[in-house]
Amino acid sequence: MLVTKDLSKFFYGFKALDGVSIEVEPNKLTLIVGPNGSGKTTLINTITGFYRADSGHVFFNGEEITNRPPHEIYKRGIVRTFQIPQPLKKLSVLENMLIAVDNPGENIMGCISRGWEKREEEIVEKASGLLEFLGLDDLWNTEAWKLSGGQLKLLEVGRALMADAKLIIMDEPMVGVNPELAASILDKFVELKRYTTFLIVEHRFEIISRHVDRIKVMVNGRIVDEGSEEFKEVIDMLCFR
Ligand SMILES: Nc1ncnc2c1ncn2[C@@H]1O[C@H](COP(=O)(O)OP(=O)(O)OP(=O)(O)O)[C@@H](O)[C@H]1O
Ligand SMILES: [Mg+2]
Repeated sequence: MLVTKDLSKFFYGFKALDGVSIEVEPNKLTLIVGPNGSGKTTLINTITGFYRADSGHVFFNGEEITNRPPHEIYKRGIVRTFQIPQPLKKLSVLENMLIAVDNPGENIMGCISRGWEKREEEIVEKASGLLEFLGLDDLWNTEAWKLSGGQLKLLEVGRALMADAKLIIMDEPMVGVNPELAASILDKFVELKRYTTFLIVEHRFEIISRHVDRIKVMVNGRIVDEGSEEFKEVIDMLCFR
């Protein structure tokens, strides 16, 4: 579904991405791990249009999206979350879900023929269903700033699904979330793979490893081969720290 080919990114002569080629399969959870500074966040930023690639290509469902602006990439169904969740804090949980719908007026003819109210109803129904699944339904009317770190992660995923995300890219989503809650959040991600795909950067390997379908290891701006010494070293380091 997502393919990068020989993606490179320089910062003032320093090669942060050195010919990265990866494939992300649909309806799977793919994990990227690697030492600090190995280029994981840079890769995410380059895929999602926040950084310009210096060379190489990014394809999404067969279409080239290299260096397209972030909002266009978002519209195609790639939604990224940040280390610090960014909901609108003064709005309620439900309002945050509703405004995530990218363009409620999309397919205007469809809306007119079915009636705008019907469309609104569908959106609210979808939001309510998702909040229930995510265990946030009791908080629907709570302002987002009152949520815990874990609840904010769930809200972010809910917002991504309201925007019809086909691929959800998350940078260290489990930072500051206690292990038990993290495991239950990841259980939900596993169930949501029926509808979407996850690409996650996460250091907390002990929590996430059993939820993962594919693992990519990044070292010095490169994806290293599975089975190589470097791959094993990184996994061992993560397992035993
Ligand atoms: N905007 C930038 N300007 C200059 N250098 C940058 C920029 N962003 C990242 N870098 C450099 O690129 C390299 C890769 O950084 P990146 O943040 O992608 O690593 P990372 O794998 O996400 O690390 P961490 O695990 O610590 O989050 C680092 O050497 C970093 O200093
Ligand atoms: Mg990072």
